[in-house]
Amino acid sequence: MSMDNPSKATQHTKTCRIILFPLPFQGHINPMIQLADILHSKGFKISIIHTQFNSPDPSKYPHFMFHLIPDGVPEDQASKHDILRVLHILNTDCVPLFSECLGKLLSAHDDIACIITDAMIYSSQAVAEDLGIPRIALRTSSVCSFLTFAALPVLREKGFYSDNLDSRWEEPVVELPPLKVKDVLGIHIRNLDDTLKIVNDMVEGTKKASGLIFNTFQDLEEPNIANLHEHFRLPTFLIGPFHKFFSAASSSLLTQDRSSIYWLDTQKTSSVLYVSFGSLAAMDEKDLIEVAWGLANSMQPFLWVVRPGLVQGSEWLESLPDEFLEVTGKRGYIVKWAPQQEVLSHPAVGGFWTHSGWNSILESICEGVPMICSSFFGDQTVNSRYINDVWRLGIKLECGFEREEIESAIRKIMLEGEGRQDIIERLVCLKEKIDGFSSTSVNSLSDFISTFKSSVV
Ligand code: UDX
Repeated sequence: MSMDNPSKATQHTKTCRIILFPLPFQGHINPMIQLADILHSKGFKISIIHTQFNSPDPSKYPHFMFHLIPDGVPEDQASKHDILRVLHILNTDCVPLFSECLGKLLSAHDDIACIITDAMIYSSQAVAEDLGIPRIALRTSSVCSFLTFAALPVLREKGFYSDNLDSRWEEPVVELPPLKVKDVLGIHIRNLDDTLKIVNDMVEGTKKASGLIFNTFQDLEEPNIANLHEHFRLPTFLIGPFHKFFSAASSSLLTQDRSSIYWLDTQKTSSVLYVSFGSLAAMDEKDLIEVAWGLANSMQPFLWVVRPGLVQGSEWLESLPDEFLEVTGKRGYIVKWAPQQEVLSHPAVGGFWTHSGWNSILESICEGVPMICSSFFGDQTVNSRYINDVWRLGIKLECGFEREEIESAIRKIMLEGEGRQDIIERLVCLKEKIDGFSSTSVNSLSDFISTFKSSVV
């Protein structure tokens, strides 16, 4: 999408450079690279500091400069999927290396306006302050999940985590409507204390930043915007969905299997359920089998992304019963990784069963595809609750992975009926608002960045 009519102030920023540092996970690399492209299209020069671990491919972006820092993430696969460990390493061992690299760049270029780093790399705030350069934080997920993260210390003080809440699993959290107790307790990954510390450090680091960018849009997040401004008094820019400007395909870390598109070409309009749980989710064999039988029993055609590593300890499809493959036959197609944006825009796709990762949700909304929402950890539990209860763009699976609930949700979302029709109408309405999205908010971000380096013209 081209961005016309750059404002006057934006035109003066043409020689400014911005340094970006993405969190090296797929769901965070995609929006950071898209943001880099958006800012580049506004005339900024772009340098990207990146880790060895999950490194982007510099050859795909000849218009950017890349600077590699050793990250210290151990080579073994187990460590690479240990999200908390990687976050810890990035915010501790990696800090002096990031600081050294940034220091060298600041000495070599006198046109650097600011750095933009992922909000989860909260230690970059102290580095920026030490080196006297403004930092803008990029929060790659929803405002509603960010505000939930910000409220967790208060919930903890109220004994939220120490009480035995199992019997209150389905009760509402009065401080955070419409969340239920299970949504909040589902946020943490493996270790509660480590997760809460990282989330809290992220929120506090963001408060100290010079600005905050969200990959989201005002019309969707309206109910939470006032709350955001009340608690975070820093310049904030909602300029998503980024992928409406630039696709995420070029930053895919895995090869996207294009045979999925050829298979979709053979299917009827709106008949296929696309199923993908993103780049990080892991499930056990028992849940995978429930997913499989839910799909089989629904009798609907499906395109299913089973990422190697989705089931821990398994190579790929060996956990699936032979009977499932026989029963579903040509009605189902399974790939390791798909060109997701293209899949969602394909006329044959009528629904998306997602893990509720934020990029997936935005991509589905933009293509007007109704969702079935599961959740594994982090923002996903909040996003899925909002999809079901607030935005009403899909159905949340309330029982985890349970074949009867899955089958019933698939039928509701895929078969013509009032439920599906109402969701589609709401999606059409939102899509129109996104399509009418002007470049105003991008221009105000450009203007804001230009104030850091107003002498550079
Ligand atoms: C992670 C977290 O899990 C998520 O909750 C958070 O919001 C962002 O970081 P991830 O699990 O990878 O992200 O999910 P998501 O945010 O949906 O991002 C996945 C990206 O990979 C999307 O841009 C999607 O288009 C792409 N993708 C996914 C593919 O290209 N092919 C696929 O087969 C699946």
